[in-house]
Amino acid sequence: MKWEIKQFNSLVSTNTTAREYPAGTIVMAETQTGGRGRYGRIWQSPRGNLYVSFVFESNPMRDQYLSFLTGLALAESLPEFNVRLKWPNDVLLEGKKVAGILLENAGDKIIVGIGVNLVNNPDKNMLYPTANLGGRLSPIGLVKRLMIQYEALFAVFEKKGFNKIRARWLDLATGVGETISVHLPTEELIGTFHGISDEGALLLKTGKKVRSITAGDVFLI
Ligand code: BTN
Repeated sequence: MKWEIKQFNSLVSTNTTAREYPAGTIVMAETQTGGRGRYGRIWQSPRGNLYVSFVFESNPMRDQYLSFLTGLALAESLPEFNVRLKWPNDVLLEGKKVAGILLENAGDKIIVGIGVNLVNNPDKNMLYPTANLGGRLSPIGLVKRLMIQYEALFAVFEKKGFNKIRARWLDLATGVGETISVHLPTEELIGTFHGISDEGALLLKTGKKVRSITAGDVFLI
């Protein structure tokens, strides 16, 4: 895939600006004034970290797996760190969140927004403990690695399908086979992380039942 990179000093949100561009565009900003996370949460965006959005053509065969492909692409772009993945799409370093992914549909496009704490991490009133990568990578350096990893992973996905991607994702996942708590909008579930379904849902074993969860916040307990 051929990408065109657009770099901005400050944007409200790279995900918002990315909507104006065609598939194949990468939108980066040094800072965001209205960075957002999942469930409309604020994504604090001080200078120095990576704020980027990749614009993909929507592809019904692939869209539901993009968060796994992106999490893996990120993990494989950071070989010098011992990162782990947390369902649905967080990247952890020593159990603390260093990166988040926000997927948004925009007509026939899908925007994949990625925030990585390269040099600093917000730590007040956070849902989950956070960490940063200690300034060892530049934003553009990491974007270049991501382009390479996406390319490689899309080729695997085309040839081998989600099974192979899921296996690689699970190898790097945290909490598999362990007791986790899943926060849903109206309830909290506690169970064993049993795996990932063919559709990408989290499988949670509670007693004899296995529940399939498509959205929620996971906490390791
Ligand atoms: C999350 O973990 O809740 C997802 C965070 C995603 C943050 C990135 S930063 C670049 C892009 N622009 C945004 O406004 N959000 C995403």
